[in-house]
Amino acid sequence: MKHLKRSKSDNTSDLPSLLIRDAQIWTKNDTTRGSILVEHGKIRRIARSITERADEEILARRLIVLPGLIDGHVHLRDMKLSYKEDFTTGTAAAAAGGFTSVIDMPNSLPPTDSAERLRERAERASGKILVNVGFHSAALNDYDEVRGMKTAGAFSMKLYLPSPIAPLDIDDDKVVVQVLNAAKQASLLLTVHAEDMTKLPRTEKITTFAELVRLRRGNAETSAVRRILRLQRPIGCRVHFCHVSLPSSLSAISDRASSRLSSEITPHHILLDENHVKTLRWKAWMVPPLRPGKDRQNLFRAMKMGIPTIMATDHAPHTVKEKAQPPRESSPGIPGLETALPLMLTMVNKGKLSLGRLVSLLATNPAKIFDLRSKGRLENGADGDLVLVDLKKRGMVDPARFFSKAHYSPFEGWKTQGVVHTTIVNGLVVYREGEIVGKPGGGKILKSGRR
Ligand code: DOR
Ligand code: ZN
Ligand code: ZN
Repeated sequence: MKHLKRSKSDNTSDLPSLLIRDAQIWTKNDTTRGSILVEHGKIRRIARSITERADEEILARRLIVLPGLIDGHVHLRDMKLSYKEDFTTGTAAAAAGGFTSVIDMPNSLPPTDSAERLRERAERASGKILVNVGFHSAALNDYDEVRGMKTAGAFSMKLYLPSPIAPLDIDDDKVVVQVLNAAKQASLLLTVHAEDMTKLPRTEKITTFAELVRLRRGNAETSAVRRILRLQRPIGCRVHFCHVSLPSSLSAISDRASSRLSSEITPHHILLDENHVKTLRWKAWMVPPLRPGKDRQNLFRAMKMGIPTIMATDHAPHTVKEKAQPPRESSPGIPGLETALPLMLTMVNKGKLSLGRLVSLLATNPAKIFDLRSKGRLENGADGDLVLVDLKKRGMVDPARFFSKAHYSPFEGWKTQGVVHTTIVNGLVVYREGEIVGKPGGGKILKSGRR
């Protein structure tokens, strides 16, 4: 028997309906003119013209509607790191950047290294978030604990090779194999920050950020990627390589042509190179670091060809005080949620990237990799997560106006064409023309494998 009555926890029936009228709508591989009706938080109908009325209407004649973007790699901080960013400021930045769902990395304080910690973090986030938020957990080698994190809804376990979040002797292949086996048994994705610190010189004296960046050489990344690939092959668990910064690492992954492997690029690694570090110093310091110009160009080319699976921002806010330090003491990481889409739309306007590629990198493919089945596409029955963009409008990157607590960016002053006009999460307008209009708590906690 079908239950027709809604359960008490399902409050979507109270949501106002929304009609987006006369827009250019992205459907599969092109835009078509039409209207979208969103009811009870879901896309109810897409048609050339919809005559019925809705509680709220948006006349979108000059706008393109894309599926809400999904960022699989953000550091939202909060808890003991709230001074860097908190769930509200981080998700406000997401909404302003056109991201309707984000997945948080586990190197928080306390770290997300057990099922209980994951539940606590989700609990803490639930009343504060403006967009949907899921969580990655730390990599562990104990199957029972890994299964527990999977049950708690973790989207992956993150293996952070430079310094593991939960103590693990990651230089020992046997330990990494245990992690891979646990991931396989628990059917949990393994996400990897691939950099082999043993490949880097330790003793060199460093006085500038440019030297620091050059010292963190590329073979540390590519050899770590090769090592994980070698260990993954006989086990066959799903592995996702975060922020791949070099063509050689990307080819190592794509050469295997395995559906169990995926890769991620960031806007900064395809748009900036190590020369930018000379002038921008700490504003352009992140790990993996910016690379030589030739590598950047080839990474961009690979992106155009569709070789990397997804794009993520690696939004990693710190205070200016933590960043404006001598190179060795400076915290790596930059905010990225508010710049990614305007920068990529600018590439579309310049003819350097197709809108279709942009949508697959930032919406369709992240939905696939992270198994968010009702997201990443504009179709009847899909979630009411949408972003309305004005592809013609010009802007400029101005970190002083970020919703993030991190008011700096290596892209400061860059001229852009293509802005986020309106961001809609679960059928509700959260961001509109420069303003957050949603309420904290309007975003949902996402749990892997649950819909
Ligand atoms: O630049 C980075 N910042 N890379 C990382 O892997 C960590 C991140 C952070 O949490 O600040
Ligand atoms: Zn990382
Ligand atoms: Zn990261």
